[in-house]
Amino acid sequence: MNKIKFFNGAEIPVEMHRAKVIQKLTLLPIEERKKYLKQAGNNQFLLKNEAIFLDMLTDSGMNARSDKQVSAAMTADDAYAGSRTYFELEEKIKEIFGFDFFLPVHQGRACEHLLAKGFVKEGDVVPTNYHFTTTRAHINLCGGKVEELVFDSAIVCDNDDPFKGNFDIEKLQRLIDEVGSDRISFLRIETGTNLIGGQPISLGNIKRVSEICRRNSIITVMDASLLQDNLYFIKVREEECKDKSIREITKEIASLIDIMYFSARKLGFGIGGGICFKTADLREKLKAMLTLHEGFLTYGGMSIREIASITQGLEETMDFDMISQGPRFIKYMVDELDKRNIPVVKPAGGLGCHIDARKFLAHIPDENYSAASLTAAIYLASGIRTMERGTASEERNPDGSEHFAAMELVRCAIPRRVFTMSQIDYAIDRIHWLYENKNIIGGLKFTQEPEILRFFTGEMAPLSNWQDKLVAKFKEDFGDSL
Ligand SMILES: Cc1ncc(COP(=O)(O)O)c(C=O)c1O
Repeated sequence: MNKIKFFNGAEIPVEMHRAKVIQKLTLLPIEERKKYLKQAGNNQFLLKNEAIFLDMLTDSGMNARSDKQVSAAMTADDAYAGSRTYFELEEKIKEIFGFDFFLPVHQGRACEHLLAKGFVKEGDVVPTNYHFTTTRAHINLCGGKVEELVFDSAIVCDNDDPFKGNFDIEKLQRLIDEVGSDRISFLRIETGTNLIGGQPISLGNIKRVSEICRRNSIITVMDASLLQDNLYFIKVREEECKDKSIREITKEIASLIDIMYFSARKLGFGIGGGICFKTADLREKLKAMLTLHEGFLTYGGMSIREIASITQGLEETMDFDMISQGPRFIKYMVDELDKRNIPVVKPAGGLGCHIDARKFLAHIPDENYSAASLTAAIYLASGIRTMERGTASEERNPDGSEHFAAMELVRCAIPRRVFTMSQIDYAIDRIHWLYENKNIIGGLKFTQEPEILRFFTGEMAPLSNWQDKLVAKFKEDFGDSL
């Protein structure tokens, strides 16, 4: 990590890179933003990019690439089968993780699709520290059920637990005793646990979980999509790892699991994904499905250029300066919001700054989707697109009743190496203004609600004219400022 100290004592994460290519941004007037929001059914996924100033929806595929990644893509060896570029990726995976067997896929959820189809049977259970939306949907579609095993304190927004992604070992042992290892398809470990605020799991906890699984002949599967932030946290927060290199920590983690998959949209700064296997027989179970659903064995639905970028991106993930930038920017935003008494998930995790919408908008009941309402308000006030990670991201119970999320979060994703400090300060300023005016913000209701993964394409409308009132207050306070 760079150790640049400021004379005035401020803790400012100085970037260890410079911009070589830039994209012009536009910030539309608030009246225009209101029109776009209505057109998108208050769903941030349905907003057109032309209407967005800072895109904090996700880091997926949004991280900036390095000059070396771009140049690697230019010299990639294009071929349907047997490309040199593909074999370079296989070699890099062997070198960094120590996995000898690999299958490339087009993105993270394709890994989940193949793993669920290959391993999950009707009535099976998949223990995990915490679910991810698409992972759970794939497991459920195969007749399986996900059991979440984090400590109860992990879903409390504000505490000082450095590893909220850890498994509660007692819960795990109890589950294995209750269901029996025969009914457990595999155990899923998510690094940088997305839905509870990008919270890490410790190396010590991975070791204990892996030991229990080995003793009970349970396959361990790691979702390493957010591994790079997790590596940073293991190094800076886990005493026993302080003197280890990122490469050493990575090797040790990989040695503890049977299968590792990743969305390269997040890990490797590219667009694609892959599944790594410890043994050939595990790979064999999914190989035939790969050619059916994704593509041939040496591209798996990705363009060869992407594969070249990912190989270079994985190498850069081993560079502590490279992987520090994301978590340090996130910490800056979390600390600044916290100073203003705005409820955020603490300690700061990876992936983004997470706002506790249930507390921010305490007057909005869960059935009126406080997190979704806050994403709409943030967009109106700033042109910033964020992501709802709360009840709207859940699916209804089988009887049609609402399934309230454990946490109502708004994620302000901070794609790596993309935003400048003044842009982060702008986001903090507008969120602060909203917090001062939170009573104007009202709830939302679904007007179109798909059955599966409704948050992607569902549409919503405000329950009252609160958005008109918010626009009026913005004009009063900011005049002709955008
Ligand atoms: C932890 C985790 N797993 C899987 C996925 C799915 O990856 P993709 O978006 O590439 O399908 C994501 C995406 O956000 C993720 O965060």
